[in-house]
Amino acid sequence: MKRQKTNGFPELERLDFDWDDSAEIPPATELILKDADRVLQAYWDQWNKKPIEQYVACDFRDVWRALAKLTASKLAKGNTFCEWGCGFGIVTGLASQLGWDAIGIEAESFLVDQANRFLIRNQLKGEILHGNFLPRGSERLADAQSNHASLFHQVENAYEQHDLELDDYALVFAYPWPGEHPFLEDVFRHYAGDGALLLMFLGPYEIELFRKIA
Ligand SMILES: C[S@@+](CC[C@H](N)C(=O)[O-])C[C@H]1O[C@@H](n2cnc3c(N)ncnc32)[C@H](O)[C@@H]1O
Repeated sequence: MKRQKTNGFPELERLDFDWDDSAEIPPATELILKDADRVLQAYWDQWNKKPIEQYVACDFRDVWRALAKLTASKLAKGNTFCEWGCGFGIVTGLASQLGWDAIGIEAESFLVDQANRFLIRNQLKGEILHGNFLPRGSERLADAQSNHASLFHQVENAYEQHDLELDDYALVFAYPWPGEHPFLEDVFRHYAGDGALLLMFLGPYEIELFRKIA
């Protein structure tokens, strides 16, 4: 376990978290993933008509494997799940299929619409919120010179619109832009509840798990 530098604030510990990149995916989940593949292929085929610069998809199959392992591990303090920047809602949907009470927050209205369609088509329970996943005031944690992608969305705060708090969530999933993960870790460290988990997809085969400790 590695601890982050904290300057007297609550800490984040990186957990040793081995997930199996060859774990078999159940047929019912594979059907959902095939639908995700179709949606993504159609999107990339049309990308020049509706470019969303910030959208890049994680590896949904590996994220499912990590989520399934985490779900079975009982490491989380509850079953509430929040995806920061949920794009097409695929990971939010997979989390709800695994039994999490899942929401996904997304700034781009086109993606919010696509995510809702994905959940309905696959009869998944997750909920998609249109808004900003950064808690109010958390922007101050970014370096003055930083141009993190997540800072540029002019949308209402998602939590405030729905009377929610980030510390309602036992597990947050994020796929940050390159270089942005220390900022998102800091936001999580300041605003998540004690014992909450942060699962991050950082690139192929690179999925990390952190826990906030008081
Ligand atoms: C790298 S993509 C990841 C999408 C999805 N989580 C996945 O793993 O496939 C980041 C997503 O976060 C959204 N996003 C970035 N900053 C945001 C913010 N502050 N509030 C809400 N959504 C944001 C972008 O529009 C984009 O859809």
